[in-house]
Amino acid sequence: MKKEKIVLLGFGDIANRLSAHLTAYQTVGVKRSLIHHPTVQIETADCCNQQQMNQVMSTGFDVLVMTFTPTEMSDTGYQQGYVKPVQTILNAVNQQTVKPRLIVFVSSTSVYAQQDGSWVDERSPTEPESYSGRRLLEAEKLVADSGYNYCHVRFSGIYGRGRGYLVEQVMAGKGTPVEPAIYTNRIHADDCAGVLTHLIERQKTHTIDNLYIASDHQPAPLHEVKQWMRETLGLPENNFQENAPLTKRTARSNKRCSNALLVESGYVFRYPSFKEGYTPLLKAD
Ligand SMILES: NC(=O)c1ccc[n+]([C@@H]2O[C@H](COP(=O)([O-])OP(=O)(O)OC[C@H]3O[C@@H](n4cnc5c(N)ncnc54)[C@H](OP(=O)(O)O)[C@@H]3O)[C@@H](O)[C@H]2O)c1
Repeated sequence: MKKEKIVLLGFGDIANRLSAHLTAYQTVGVKRSLIHHPTVQIETADCCNQQQMNQVMSTGFDVLVMTFTPTEMSDTGYQQGYVKPVQTILNAVNQQTVKPRLIVFVSSTSVYAQQDGSWVDERSPTEPESYSGRRLLEAEKLVADSGYNYCHVRFSGIYGRGRGYLVEQVMAGKGTPVEPAIYTNRIHADDCAGVLTHLIERQKTHTIDNLYIASDHQPAPLHEVKQWMRETLGLPENNFQENAPLTKRTARSNKRCSNALLVESGYVFRYPSFKEGYTPLLKAD
């Protein structure tokens, strides 16, 4: 049987992990810098460049997955990092006779403005105050208005090997006050790849929703996560000599993301909470 063709636009960590699940597909990865990959055909191209995108998309793809990271943390950076490439890619797809069966756009739970520790799900209002949330919603809307089958996946905070920011804070003795409690939401990078694989496969035989929150089962106050890490690392009770600065980004995270819709669709988390996910990482460090 002919293999389906899938293109991973913004080929970085998540796309690389995803590609390991895609042996039944003919997989192409797109990024601007040159790399060699043992199993994925890498196209060196800029998704903001219309000519280059027309060229890459000219063979037609059944599935598109977009995982971009902006080069700059600013409104312009997010416009150039999400809105522009999405528009450019959709322009290129519109010129093709082969229409994709699914476009997956990877977004973020930062589109929710809720900061009061309340639960959010796919039906919750999105009224972000930050440029990052607004630009992500703008990119989501472009995909939703494209007329193709699509699915937005809003990941919460991604962790995994090579993403040890929180562990580094704990090891440096930087804590977080117990009050006011700030809820945080996480997903292991391997589950990000698992979720994307699950949705791409499921859509072959079932109707899937246009939007999923992808976050593990256990939103938890940041101080609790850090205390658990301290204990697991075997650090003393008086480890936390100072508090890490409370960034706007951290303060904005104070909500609880529900994964009920994703779980209902049949996805089983490999790492249901930070405890399962961080334990092997802490032991390896
Ligand atoms: N980090 C988090 O906690 C978090 C939370 C929620 C959601 N997310 C989402 O998760 C995704 C992150 O994926 P990731 O961890 O795999 O990121 P990553 O490792 O930084 O990969 C992103 C890749 O996109 C490529 N890229 C960026 N702009 C491009 C362009 N214009 N044309 C072609 N390639 C481009 C970059 O490669 P080149 O520089 O070589 O082009 C990079 O390798 C993003 O969609 C992000 O919004 C992240």
